[in-house]
Amino acid sequence: MDKANLDWSNLPFGYVKTDFHVESYYKDGKWSSLQTMEKDTIELSMAATCLHYGQEAFEGLKVFEHKDGTVSVFRVDENALRLQRSARKLVMQEVPQDLFIEAVEKVVQLNKRFIPPYGTGATLYIRPLLLGISGRLGVQPSEEYLFLVFASPVGPYFKEGLKPLKFKIEEKMKRAAPGGTGDVKVGGNYAASLRVTRQAQKEGFKEVVYLDAATNQYLDESGPANFFGITKDGKYITPKSETILPSITNKSLMHLAEHDLGMTVENRPVRVEEIHHLAEAGCCGTAAVITPIKSLTYQGETITYCETDEVGPYSKKLYDLLTSIQVGDVPDKYGWNRKIDIR
Ligand code: PLP
Ligand code: COI
Repeated sequence: MDKANLDWSNLPFGYVKTDFHVESYYKDGKWSSLQTMEKDTIELSMAATCLHYGQEAFEGLKVFEHKDGTVSVFRVDENALRLQRSARKLVMQEVPQDLFIEAVEKVVQLNKRFIPPYGTGATLYIRPLLLGISGRLGVQPSEEYLFLVFASPVGPYFKEGLKPLKFKIEEKMKRAAPGGTGDVKVGGNYAASLRVTRQAQKEGFKEVVYLDAATNQYLDESGPANFFGITKDGKYITPKSETILPSITNKSLMHLAEHDLGMTVENRPVRVEEIHHLAEAGCCGTAAVITPIKSLTYQGETITYCETDEVGPYSKKLYDLLTSIQVGDVPDKYGWNRKIDIR
């Protein structure tokens, strides 16, 4: 089948309607078999709990075409488990891991003409979504759920790609609080971040890095991605915090830094003052991949990590290694790629 007629190398991180999505409903105590749907709209009760009370969780993962034309999805089992954690936190019905993986594979097979060609830098982004759909007026969990998965071909989240970008440390506004939902992937966290990003962008920054809500002393993460720094002696440091999303990209980078690049990795609370002692900084995630931070502005002072648009050497090495594994150019020795049969 011919590929879709898209300008693959210049795709933004945006929604493109593909041919099909898949749906499963949880009703009467069980999940239905997957249905293939052509329309990209869904019908919902206007009283659905996802609409009023935020009973909604989602995932994001990527599918890559390799040089030999085969296709794989990165660490899909981890995303399945994370959606289950998100579901538990919002008292939603968990999606079985098998159903999650089957849905991802099916949506890729159905939309294979949208898988960006190897070498274009674009990927097929997969967005699984879990919604509480019972009509309720009281604040209560839903009985019925819709699990759907759609796909969209995308370029880098930050259109600049691997170019260093200016970030600020957000000193006042928060996206998540201890005991809340910052550690799961639910829509409310992103709703809370919109005003913060908008304000930062008005001030000339691309994004923010949040501080922990309890003490305002420790780095948390960025709105759409985790934060990492490289110390001047070459250590990979990244915040441990109960109010950030455990990133699968960051977990992978920590593993590669330690086992493949021989770096010391520190996953621990990171005091905000430590930004003064970093050689490189960046944020990481499925959509963001590695986005280098050019400078961080905090308390009126700007700390610059990249004088030019050149990326720091450790960030570059990590980026190259991760993306080479994902597209199959480097052996997948940790078994992170799951092949999908698209013949
Ligand atoms: N943090 C937040 C708030 C995110 O939305 C994401 C994206 O999923 C990440 C971190 C990165 O997580 P992952 O690497 O699993 O995509
Ligand atoms: C991802 O990286 O997959 C995400 O879901 C982040 C989102 C803000 C685009």
